[in-house]
Formats: sequence, structure tokens, C-alpha cells
Amino acid sequence: MKKDFLSFEPFAKAELQSMLDLSIWMKKERPRNFKPLADKTVALIFEKPSLRTHVSFEVGILQLGGQSVYLAGSIIGINTRESIKDVAVVLSQYNDVIVIRTFSHTIVEQIAAYASIPVINALTDLLHPCQVMADAMTLMELGRFSPSTKIVFVGDGNNMVNSWLELAAQFPFHFVIAAPAGYAPDPAILNRAQHAGVSAIEIVHDPLEAATDADVLYTDVWVSMGQEEERAARTQAFNGYQINAALLKRAQKDCVVMHCLPAHRGEEITADVLEGSQSVVLPQAQNRLHVQKGILAYLHGARMPARYEDVVTNEPVFI
Ligand code: CP
Ligand code: NVA
Repeated sequence: MKKDFLSFEPFAKAELQSMLDLSIWMKKERPRNFKPLADKTVALIFEKPSLRTHVSFEVGILQLGGQSVYLAGSIIGINTRESIKDVAVVLSQYNDVIVIRTFSHTIVEQIAAYASIPVINALTDLLHPCQVMADAMTLMELGRFSPSTKIVFVGDGNNMVNSWLELAAQFPFHFVIAAPAGYAPDPAILNRAQHAGVSAIEIVHDPLEAATDADVLYTDVWVSMGQEEERAARTQAFNGYQINAALLKRAQKDCVVMHCLPAHRGEEITADVLEGSQSVVLPQAQNRLHVQKGILAYLHGARMPARYEDVVTNEPVFI
């Protein structure tokens, strides 16, 4: 049965770990003959702008032996020129995977329901799982992804936070969200993450209180794609929800700073911190490539035989 990657929820922790192991293996070994997408094509639908997600998927698909077909949302006209069902069914006849970035998460769910091929969520208003996989990989590489790691998100309870909460339902860490009133994460996702009982999860309003002794400080834009008309209200609401030198001082000395990018210097983060010695935003962005490949390879049956550190023959197997 085909498997989609729309959110972390349907996956077991071991499956997510397996995707990360594949990603880490590919980054380390740069295998030239590992081509799980040979003779395959991937349709890339983007109804919102993108730099990292678009390019890392295009390059990752090529490196795995496949080809991509880029489809700007305006060209297809989902729900205007074409029904969701027709888009999903027709693309399934030509391609082997659909990657889609769009607004409503229900569009991605409906595409996945009608498609006979795997569908990957490249960002919706609700979730951004590919980014959070790259973030998890970055923290694993840095040795900062343990039950005691205090990860503090400062700002909007948006798609990034919702995916972090889904990760916290699977992998243990201490997750603190500092968001202004009215900008909390999705209540159902928050509830599921808290009830999973895997991670300690807190929501506070005060960024300074949240940042105290943080191991990781994370932020994202105040105005996400599609919210441009709310800019004035959001700029006011998020005043003070900024990662800057004063906030960083409250954290652990070796705290790392993360941002999914694109960043707005002087809004959610200052330029000195974004580009400072504690920032890991560029390794995060680089890992997008390795993680897209790990997800694509996993959905095509590739598995590391065991945890990377333990393997004797370090080639993936196919199931
Ligand atoms: N972080 C991220 O998803 O970047 P893009 O919007 O450029 O793809
Ligand atoms: N929250 C941001 C993430 C961009 C990668 C947005 O949705 O625009």
C-alpha cells in the first residue's frame, strides 16, 4: 500500500528514525550508485513561493536518479480550473510521487486520498514536516536531541510549531513555546502532543522566561505565507517576540539558534544573532536536501539495515 508523508502522526518513531538514518547515511557517504528513483518522475506542485523546499527537492530527486516536473499552482488551478480529484488521478497516471506546497491542509489530504502514488507535504498552513525533519537531523548531528534538551520556540504558533509538536509526540525533549495571546498552536495537535506523554511541553507568553537555560532557541516569521493582509496586526502582536542578544544571554552558553528561513532581520530575529557564531541556520538549510532524499528513498522501500552506527555493511536494503 502506498504511504504518504503529510504529517508525522501516522508514522512510528522507528519509521521517522529510519528516514533520518537514510538521510544521515546519504550525507556522509554521498553514494553514487544509490538510485531508488531511477526511471521515476516526481510532480512538484507549488501554490506558494519557495527557495529551499523547491530546490532541495529538485536536486535531491536528480541525485536519486529521478526527474521532476515543476508545476506552479497558477498553471494547474486546483479548485478553479481543475477539481482536486482530477489533479490527483491524472498526475498519478504520469508520475511516481506528488510533492505539494499549498494553503489548506485539507487540499493535501484530498490529493493524497485520490492519488494512487505517495504524496509529500512540502508545507501547508497547518504543518511543515519536511523542515522539522531537517531540524531534527541537525540537532542529532550536534548531539543536542535528548529528553533533557530544552528547545524554545519564540513567536507564532504556526505550521512550524505544529510540526514541532508532532515531533514532540514521538521523540522526547523539553519543548517550550513563547507565543502572544491569540497565536497559540493548533489546539488538537497541542492536545495530542501533550497526551502522548513523550515530551515535556509548556506554553508561556514571556519570551525571556521561556529562553532561560534554553539549549536551542528557534523562531520563524511573524507573518507566514498567505497572511500578508494581517501584517499590521501581527507586527504589533509579536513586538518583543524576537531572538536577539539579550534573549540569547538568558540561554545556556552553548545554546544554538535555529530558523527555518526565510528570515526577516530586525523582526523575529536580529541580524547579529542570525549570522552569529551560535546560529545553525545554514546547516539546517543544507540538511533539507538530505532529508528530502531520505523521505523519498524511504517511501520507495529503502531502509538502513540497522542504526547507522551499528551497521557492518552500510548499504540500505529495499523492502
Ligand atoms: N524553510 C523553507 O521551507 O523555505 P522555503 O519556503 O524557501 O522552501
Ligand atoms: N511559517 C512560514 C514557514 C516558511 C518556511 C510560512 O508558512 O510562511
